[in-house]
Amino acid sequence: MNSNKPNQDSQANKRSRPRRLRRSALLRELVAETALRAERLIQPHFCLPHEQGREEISSMPGIARLGREPLLSQVAADLELGLRSVLLFGLAGDGEKSPLGEHSHDDNGAVQRAASALKQEFGDDLMVMTDVCLCAYTDHGHCGVLNEGVIENDPSLPLLAEMAVSHAAAGADVVAPSDMMDGRVAAIRDGLDAGGFVDTSIMSYSVKYASAYYGPFRDAADSAPGQGDRKSYQMDARNSREAEREARLDEIEGADILMVKPALAYLDVIARVRAASDLPLAAYNVSGEFSSVKAAAERGWIDEPAVVRENLMAMTRAGADILITYHAREALQGGWL
Ligand code: PBG
Ligand code: ZN
Repeated sequence: MNSNKPNQDSQANKRSRPRRLRRSALLRELVAETALRAERLIQPHFCLPHEQGREEISSMPGIARLGREPLLSQVAADLELGLRSVLLFGLAGDGEKSPLGEHSHDDNGAVQRAASALKQEFGDDLMVMTDVCLCAYTDHGHCGVLNEGVIENDPSLPLLAEMAVSHAAAGADVVAPSDMMDGRVAAIRDGLDAGGFVDTSIMSYSVKYASAYYGPFRDAADSAPGQGDRKSYQMDARNSREAEREARLDEIEGADILMVKPALAYLDVIARVRAASDLPLAAYNVSGEFSSVKAAAERGWIDEPAVVRENLMAMTRAGADILITYHAREALQGGWL
């Protein structure tokens, strides 16, 4: 044992008192390392393929599938709160699911029409982002083309690119591919550029894990796989070096913004990707993370505003610039941030 060391430490500890900076609320504000801002929040929406309608999602309290008219009123109210970005997910119309999910690039589809209505109404005051994936439109519920039990990578790419182009044509500012096919960012970038949409950004779900936290979302979007799971294309929860690899590839392929998903169970991955890339980084606080908080709050087991703030802070502290969260509206409404 070094007899000097403990003594020196205790001398130093008498002078250095971290609690001094915690004495008052003003001091804590002054030295806080992390801040949450409305401008950095994205509210997801589930778009119905018609004008009217509001369908509550029982596994996601407070979140509903919306027709275009209720969506427009909701977004108008959200803008008043300072919530400026939306991420749109679409639902297929009756009888519109097919093996190749062609309705995903229908110019009259739920997302295309919602994006165009929103941009028409709110213009540059609203950032419209759209999820690009086939799973809500394929009859088998997988994110790519299914052939004899295998999700085929390369045949999925032109379909995804066509979907992204149809969103850009409808007015989307940012397209966000969530399918996890290899090479889809490059395919989408090429498709957008060829279509004249050189200024449409790509926010790639670069680091997306095969997660049990997507359950409530799949109820909401009616996008659960009929057979099997998504483990042959989404990442394995045991891996984090691979996150850097995925992020690097998307960066090379032309992604403008990277994303890690889910967020709370993957804070280490957020920190790792933040350190590995200079691109803006988004974290997706997914449906199961949201619904777990909601369920505990409904039982009175946790203080919802405080827990939501703590969770959003954790993602920010880990290195996320942008937070995609179903809590966004309530957090701003309630002044939880
Ligand atoms: C579609 C998609 C999913 C989510 C976002 N885009 C579901 C999935 O991959 O099964 C999950 C979002 C959430 O759980 O909130 N590929
Ligand atoms: Zn999908």
